[in-house]
Amino acid sequence: MHIHAYEKLWLALSIVLILALIGTVTYGAVGPGVAMVADTQQTVDSGALDEDERFSEPRVEQVGENEYEAYVVAYQFAFEPSPIVVPANSTVTLHVTSRDVIHGFEVAGTNANTMVVPGEVSEITVETDEPAEYGIVCNEYCGAGHHVMEGKLHVVS
Ligand code: CUA
Repeated sequence: MHIHAYEKLWLALSIVLILALIGTVTYGAVGPGVAMVADTQQTVDSGALDEDERFSEPRVEQVGENEYEAYVVAYQFAFEPSPIVVPANSTVTLHVTSRDVIHGFEVAGTNANTMVVPGEVSEITVETDEPAEYGIVCNEYCGAGHHVMEGKLHVVS
């Protein structure tokens, strides 16, 4: 009986110590000074896009009234999703990453343009007005199929 009671005491003390340690670490992280708190949006494991919640299913998501987020994957030699379908008169933030090598992402005939680097997430925000169909071109040489690498952006009513 005595041993059992001691075990319980030690168990309780261990828990207290663990909680105290967690408390110290947590408190330390929010203390004064300079702290980078959010840079994970900027990177991604290009070899594990299938397990990444943003890019496992390339898609367009509505996040507010007239606000959309698009998750786009570039690879040799296409873009996904294709077409990217977004409503007219909306604001769309495109998060674009690459599955393999460096690509470009340019919405032809517009100023929407970014380089797409494996391991990084390029974010560009565009505003749409009239319904229209645009081509998306890759403007970084990425291999034998570079010149046929294209996507579509459909602005729909
Ligand atoms: Cu992809 Cu050039």
